[in-house]
Amino acid sequence: MSDAGKIQAPRGTFDVLGESSSARATLEAKARSILEGAGYERIETPAFEATELFARGVGASTDIVQKEMYTFEDASGRSLTLRPEGTAPVCRAYVEHGMHKLRQPVRLWYLSSFFRYERAQAGRYRQFWQLGAEALGSEDPAVDAESICLLAALLEEMGVASVRLRLSSLGSPAARQAYREQLQRHLHAHADSLSEDVRSRIDLNPLRAFDSEHPGTRRAMETAPLLGDFLSAEDTEHFAEVRARLDAAHLAYQIDHTLVRGLDYYTRTVFELTSDALGAQSGVGGGGRYDGLVQQLGGPPTPGIGWAAGIERILLAGSPPPAAPAPVDLFVAYEPSHDGDRPLEDRPAHHAPAGAFALLTEARAAGLTAQMELAGRSLKGQLGFANALGARYVAILGTDETVLKDMLGGAQDTLAADAVVHAVLRGLRTL
Ligand code: HAM
Repeated sequence: MSDAGKIQAPRGTFDVLGESSSARATLEAKARSILEGAGYERIETPAFEATELFARGVGASTDIVQKEMYTFEDASGRSLTLRPEGTAPVCRAYVEHGMHKLRQPVRLWYLSSFFRYERAQAGRYRQFWQLGAEALGSEDPAVDAESICLLAALLEEMGVASVRLRLSSLGSPAARQAYREQLQRHLHAHADSLSEDVRSRIDLNPLRAFDSEHPGTRRAMETAPLLGDFLSAEDTEHFAEVRARLDAAHLAYQIDHTLVRGLDYYTRTVFELTSDALGAQSGVGGGGRYDGLVQQLGGPPTPGIGWAAGIERILLAGSPPPAAPAPVDLFVAYEPSHDGDRPLEDRPAHHAPAGAFALLTEARAAGLTAQMELAGRSLKGQLGFANALGARYVAILGTDETVLKDMLGGAQDTLAADAVVHAVLRGLRTL
């Protein structure tokens, strides 16, 4: 067949089909049970927001804002952006709905699609799904530890292999600023050995240098100052308390002061969970504190912490327990050629008779799960299909009578069509 006229999904996007769709349903059910069990409520924010939200919230110098946003003008000339991440939208909603008046912390979770114009490869897409959890209104280190433990528990339940937790503290904005200046001084002094990309961003985003794979840059970073040495006494204490709670929960971590998150709103705790089961895109989930973000978006001073994890990466690195297929109580089949010497009903020979449809709707109205033959198969083909569906009963409509087959026990009864639903209900009750 020629490809002319076929339209394909855009690069970096994909269709969610069959098994992958049921694996996602399993993940969603586990996330709901773990997060709602811990007091999180589901939130859904719009797929697009005012561009200003991300420029201000995520940070004008970040890769996301500089080169990865899908930004467009609507018909009235407003600049809108498909959400590249969920934290700024959740904080916007917190402010917009006056959630600071609710009991704190307000804990919210989401499972939504996000959009970034990135180089597409395995585990990195342009439309992807994130599961995220945000806790707003408490700076207690127990909230940091709880948030991290919930993500670790979810990954464990999803069978994500070889997970490592990297942990750091970025301190307050003031400490970060002092550190930034020192780091910039260091980078300028080593400018000759840096990659072009890192060199061109010394002033804009010096922390990025820790992420570089470029050998000269890596060498220069070995002697770079570390943020951990710049933390205030309060931030050092907060970080120690977070660690003590993770220790109490027996959750292992590695402290890594070179941990760079690609978003500007972080303060104090930051973390990332990686899996060796993934290739280059090893980050399964990450997050941290963002104590200034709500205020930056026009709300009252409000601390916050949260994380997001990529659904595709969780499923790539994990082995989700298979979801049980939906049970089929009754499959309605029919004898295709029961026209014999009688006139055919008001239908072509390969269309199901109205009586089959009537039985299907009667069964569903009685609370049974039911399906019927819709593709004009032979009777043998219909029974094979019912078997593949795992149907418990099959009703075969004939001209005068209906045969009800118990697919589990093999028993077979002949009865009037209007007695079928009752017989199935009785049969299921005696299981
Ligand atoms: P992030 O690290 O940018 O953080 O993304 C979190 C996770 O989303 C990553 O660890 C990865 O699993 C997944 N992810 C990111 N980009 C892609 C992509 N292009 N394709 C597939 N998966 C991807 C955030 O978004 C923050 N909002 C997390 C947060 C919540 N911080 C505080 N609260």
